[in-house]
Amino acid sequence: MAGDVEHHREALIAAARAVRARAHAPYSGFAVGAAVLDEQGRIHAGANVENAAYPQGWCAETSALALLVAAGGRRVLALAVYAVAQDPVAPCGGCRQKLREFAADDCPVWLAGPDGLRAAHSLGALLPHGFGPHHLPT
Ligand code: THU
Repeated sequence: MAGDVEHHREALIAAARAVRARAHAPYSGFAVGAAVLDEQGRIHAGANVENAAYPQGWCAETSALALLVAAGGRRVLALAVYAVAQDPVAPCGGCRQKLREFAADDCPVWLAGPDGLRAAHSLGALLPHGFGPHHLPT
């Protein structure tokens, strides 16, 4: 179990920061790193991957989620996003929905930059009244 997720905050931010250096973002020049904490206490970190066919690129959060699934993770207990920008960088709308598949409304979303933690939200605050797995018949 991951225990109190707050204890993992700095490790998640560090992982997001480290993986950001590996972003493939030659078109926007905007490198992003994201790290997710799974139900086993493991961290999965991914960066954005852009493409010459611009719409085919994807976000750091999507990379991190794919790595969690590939490693056998099933739940996201917390997310950190690391970017360098004037304002804290929060997941785009599409990534909020992707995150909703694996995370509860109270999942912390930590937004960080070179000065450390800049903002803390919950997924429910970022995606209110979101559509999720519970809406579908089992
Ligand atoms: N991007 C992310 O990877 N995550 C975010 O939370 C915001 C935006 C990426 C997508 C694109 O590669 C670049 O940042 C500029 O939009």
